[in-house]
Formats: sequence, structure tokens, C-alpha cells
Amino acid sequence: MPQLKSELILGIETSCDETAAAVLRGPRQVLSNVIASQVPVHRRYGGVVPELASRQHILAIDSVVKEALDNAGVRLSDLGGIAVTYGPGLVGSLLVGLSVAKSLSMVHELPLAAVNHHEGHIRSVFIEPDDVPLPMMMLMVSGGDTSLYLIGEGGDDGRFRSLAHTRDDAAGEAFDKVAKLLGLGYPGGPIIDRLAKQGDPAAVPFSRPRMTDGTLDFSFSGMKTAVLRHVQAHGIRPVNGTVVGDHAAALKPRDPCGTVTTDTSPTGGGGGAEPPAADIPSNVADLLASFQEALVGYLVDQTVKAARMHNARSIGLSGGVACNSRLRAAMTEAGSRLGIPVFYPRPILTTDNGAMIASAGYRHLILGRRADLTQNADPAARL
Ligand code: KG4
Repeated sequence: MPQLKSELILGIETSCDETAAAVLRGPRQVLSNVIASQVPVHRRYGGVVPELASRQHILAIDSVVKEALDNAGVRLSDLGGIAVTYGPGLVGSLLVGLSVAKSLSMVHELPLAAVNHHEGHIRSVFIEPDDVPLPMMMLMVSGGDTSLYLIGEGGDDGRFRSLAHTRDDAAGEAFDKVAKLLGLGYPGGPIIDRLAKQGDPAAVPFSRPRMTDGTLDFSFSGMKTAVLRHVQAHGIRPVNGTVVGDHAAALKPRDPCGTVTTDTSPTGGGGGAEPPAADIPSNVADLLASFQEALVGYLVDQTVKAARMHNARSIGLSGGVACNSRLRAAMTEAGSRLGIPVFYPRPILTTDNGAMIASAGYRHLILGRRADLTQNADPAARL
């Protein structure tokens, strides 16, 4: 097994709209974790604008890396390696982190690990808990992906098998688009999570997506359309009146990072510059609560089904949507009915961060999986 000069790994993540860097000792001890979010920059557009994202990464990356090193109390010369996200994500954003990581690795003669963003999310679940029973059924739910993985067959938590993916939108995308449709702000997931608490989750019926080919694959476009039909049928107006354009346009699909690529006018595409007021009409609160309940119920049922099929001994939740309070509670209840524990990272390790990339990168490096200076960004990388 290759030796590293030290166990200290710098992780860099710039795949979408967070400029993030962290220093870990080994795969689990987080010494620093710095995240510069670009949400205020993109909020007025109702989604991530790729050109602005790349520029923000360029502006922030040096100070974010420096702060991560300073907070950890280490110098570049103390490091044993550098890990960086190479994909999937926005190509311009990925290239910023990758260029910085390659330059630092060359100048300081440090081994480089190129990490798949989804592998990082998977590893985030293993950073803090001491004992995770394997195999684990992992639901990865983010703005760009919704997948099920079986982790740790044969007791090796580095092994993962891909079992199901979304056929259309990701769960986070559904949250974001419904929030946009209703003029609630961006990103939609945390806003709906908060506002849904005011509504009745049984008020609006939603039918459950079903795959006719018997796979566990997901689909969310039907739920999004059901919200649109309800909004049209009941004449529901966007909450803060800032949504420009028709409802259907707000529901158009986007690329895997939740990007708005066409609607870039400052007033366009919903959300407005600030999150909405705390109070919303009861019919909107009921719709949000019912939509969230249906989506969460669907995610939980698919995960439980997969866990049973594969005799999983634990369940894991990762990716930005794993911050959702209703999803965490419902999955924990389902786990206790099944008699297996449910693990999810703290929010700071759930959304995009450098710690998960450093943790995954550490494993690559001790297994001798090193990237070189020819490593390119791969916006559509798959696990
Ligand atoms: O993992 P992430 O930070 O970025 C990607 O890799 O996609 O996930 C971002 C997604 C967004 O769609 C956001 O709305 C959603 O995670 N999200 C939530 C919550 N917090 C973030 N969705 C539902 N409830 C939340 N509390």
C-alpha cells in the first residue's frame, strides 16, 4: 500500500455554486471545512448561472483554500495529498478547482486524487459515525441526482453498487422548480422544508410514480406537473408576485446542477432577491406540505424496498436534499420499523463541501489511485 508523507489531505470542491475547501487527517478527522456559498449571487435568477458561478469560484478559491489551511493550522508543505472534484457538475466551475488543485500538487510535489462528486456525497455519511453496519442502502438525493447505491458488500465500505437512478429530474430539482413556480425563492428545498410546516400534508392528493419495467428507478417530472395542474386549476398566484413568465416555463427541465441557462434576466424566473415572508396563504402551505409529503414518502418507500431486497443492515442519506427535516424524520421512522439504523451527515457535511472530497480522496491515495496533470473535468461523470 503506498505511503503518504502525512495523513493530512486538502479537499477542494467547486462543481456547482459552492467554493469549498477542507483539511482532514485521514478519512474522518475534519480539521477545517470552509464553504463560500454563491446563493446570494444566483438567487435573483432563480437558479445557478454557469458563467457567474465560474467567475465567483475564481474570485473565492484562493482565500477559501488559505482559510481551510489556516483554520486547520497546517501549511501546504505539511500535506500528504490533495483531492479535488473532477465531475459531474458545471464544466467552468469544475475547471477552477481542478486547475488550482493541479497547480498546488505540481508546485508542492503532492499526490493528487480526482474524486467523483457523488462518491464524495457517499463518503460524507461515513465521516462522523463510529460504527456503520454494512451493507448500507444509500439514498443519494441532491439537486442533480437521485440514486440508490448498495455500499459495503463483503464488509468493505469502499465498494458500492449502483442500483437505481432518476429517469428525469432529480428530487432537489423538483423542490427548486416548485418553489420557483410559486414565487418562493431560491434554492427551493430549504424554503419548502420551512414553509411546509404551516400546511396540511394530506390536503392535496398526489399519485405515486411507478416504473413499468419493475426497476427501482425514480421519476419526479409527474409530481412537478401535478403541482402545475393544481396551481392552474385553483388559480393560485405566485406568493411574492416576482415570477415573470408563465407557470409552464418555470417547470422546464434544467441541467444536472440545477442551472438556469436561458432565463438570466434579473427579474426573470422567480424567486426575487430575497426569501419570501414567513406567512403564506393556507392553500399554498397545504400544497407545499402535500407535495413534500408525497415526494418524501416516495423516496422512503423506494429506499425501504431496496434495503429489504438487498438485506441492508443500515440506511444512509446523502446529498443536499438529505437536509430535509421531513425526509430525515420519515427515513428514521422507516429504519426503526425495519430494525436498522439510519445515518445522515450534519447539514454542513450534507450540502457540497470539501471534507467529503478529502475523505474520498484519502482512500484513493492510500490505494495508489493517483491522478496526474492530464486529469480533465468531466461534467457528466458517472460513478
Ligand atoms: O448536494 P447539493 O448541495 O448540490 C448538488 O450537488 O446538487 O444539493 C442542492 C439541492 C438543491 O436542490 C436544494 O434545494 C436541495 O439540495 N436542498 C433541500 C434542502 N436543503 C437543500 N431540499 C429539500 N429540503 C432541504 N432542507
